[in-house]
Amino acid sequence: MTSPNVQWHESQMTREDRARLLKQQNKVVWFTGLSGSGKSTLAHALEKALHDKGVLTYTLDGDNVRHGLNANLGFSPEDREENIRRVGEVAKLFYDAGLTVLVCFISPYAKDRDRVRELIGKDFIEVFVDCPVEECEKRDTKGLYKKARAGEIKDFTGVNAPYEAPEKAELVLKSAEQDVDACVASLLKLLA
Ligand code: ADX
Repeated sequence: MTSPNVQWHESQMTREDRARLLKQQNKVVWFTGLSGSGKSTLAHALEKALHDKGVLTYTLDGDNVRHGLNANLGFSPEDREENIRRVGEVAKLFYDAGLTVLVCFISPYAKDRDRVRELIGKDFIEVFVDCPVEECEKRDTKGLYKKARAGEIKDFTGVNAPYEAPEKAELVLKSAEQDVDACVASLLKLLA
């Protein structure tokens, strides 16, 4: 809750002014999906493709943000909610700065993602990186599924913690069936 003793200061410049300066129409592209589904891989490939087109972007990645701003948060439902609330606010700031923001967080709860959707408004694009847990587990690039199955992680998404798949995502990418280039092509088409 905002303290009653703080006031909002209106800036002279708007997001539209900044985006115009950068010659771009900026968006927030929110990648959600299981650990190992390919969110970061796709965001980084999209970032490169957008950069090549002259679009200024910034990527916010769960594993990285949890090293700094969100280093005090774990994986309880409450901490995940706070994790998404904070990164939603950070995404809003970068969006307000005129950049296209790529966000890759598991963000397992629909209500937390919907809150960010409301916060950002018309330029929020939810991308569901839809990869079966069996495939994520087979990849297991970080060895975390193995640990979760061994009982060493008690609240691992897709194993012993829930993941609520989006029902109204702007785009669904079947990352086990389509390669990175095909997924990036779909993303660029949506952003065009
Ligand atoms: S979220 O659920 O709160 O959105 P976030 O995207 O920030 O998660 O972080 C997920 C990353 O943290 C995973 O890719 C994985 O590397 C790591 N991780 C560590 N513990 C867990 C866990 N219990 N559940 C899911 N991911 C975990």
